[in-house]
Amino acid sequence: MTEVLNTAPVNTRVVAVANQKGGVGKTTTTVNLAACLTQHDQQVLLIDLDPQANATSGLGLPLQEGASLYRALLGHGSTIDLLQPTMVPGLDIIPSELDLAGSEVDVARQSNYLHCLNRALEPLIMAGRYHLVLLDCPPALGILTMNALTAAHGILIPMQCEYYALEGLSVMTRIVKQLRDSGANPRLEIEGILMTMFDKRTRLSGEVVDEVRKHFGDAVYETTIPRNVRLSEAPSYGQTIIEYDKHSRGAKAYQAFADEFLARAQLAHPAG
Ligand SMILES: Nc1ncnc2c1ncn2[C@@H]1O[C@H](COP(=O)(O)OP(=O)(O)OP(=O)(O)O)[C@@H](O)[C@H]1O
Ligand SMILES: [Mg+2]
Repeated sequence: MTEVLNTAPVNTRVVAVANQKGGVGKTTTTVNLAACLTQHDQQVLLIDLDPQANATSGLGLPLQEGASLYRALLGHGSTIDLLQPTMVPGLDIIPSELDLAGSEVDVARQSNYLHCLNRALEPLIMAGRYHLVLLDCPPALGILTMNALTAAHGILIPMQCEYYALEGLSVMTRIVKQLRDSGANPRLEIEGILMTMFDKRTRLSGEVVDEVRKHFGDAVYETTIPRNVRLSEAPSYGQTIIEYDKHSRGAKAYQAFADEFLARAQLAHPAG
């Protein structure tokens, strides 16, 4: 477990990184945004909510039985006991492992099943040791993603620059509206839309970004993440892009994105 900070408690913002579409850059964004934010003196917790455990292995952690949030989601044991440090100072993780796959069924049996993650995170948020909790969601709108969206203040949606991007987005925005309107999570905001895997050699990438901006305006971050092979190599070394190649285009893009993410979050929520 990480050291208890001696500093005053801070306000914690919970952000779900979600898109039901697979392979759009959710995990790459979660891991590298988290790493870049620590360079701004932010204490960050990454919770790997995907049974694929890509964020866990991408940060160089082994899969450990019982290390995931699975039991805590069912109300057993303390979430705080699950915190683990990573190699990145200022970044902690609650890793994933295969157990988490079972939670789709087991959590669904709980009363008030959409709020299991909310309940599990409560003591952490009360303790006020993290500025940001980032939830890396699986590529489905199942129980885990819905729990993440119920517990979050904001949803960050990574979108690949490709055809059909807009259709996927409208599914996500409809879910956000449903969660708000049903009262399951009235505070849920769209934190922002991040365009990923931008390929400047094709016209398509530019056209997709223009189209998404036309519909979603300022919700789309100014920063776009380029397609960059270094970003896809880093996880196989268990490293973030900052450790693996901080001079790469991918690293510079995620640093610029972290600046923008922070500026926007502070503008909207100046306290904390
Ligand atoms: N900007 C990028 N440039 C090049 N490769 C990238 C980039 N972003 C992500 N990738 C690669 O694309 C693949 C999918 O990315 P990633 O795992 O982040 O997506 P995901 O949305 O989390 O996927 P899943 O839905 O399976 O969880 C990975 O192999 C990753 O290394
Ligand atoms: Mg992923």
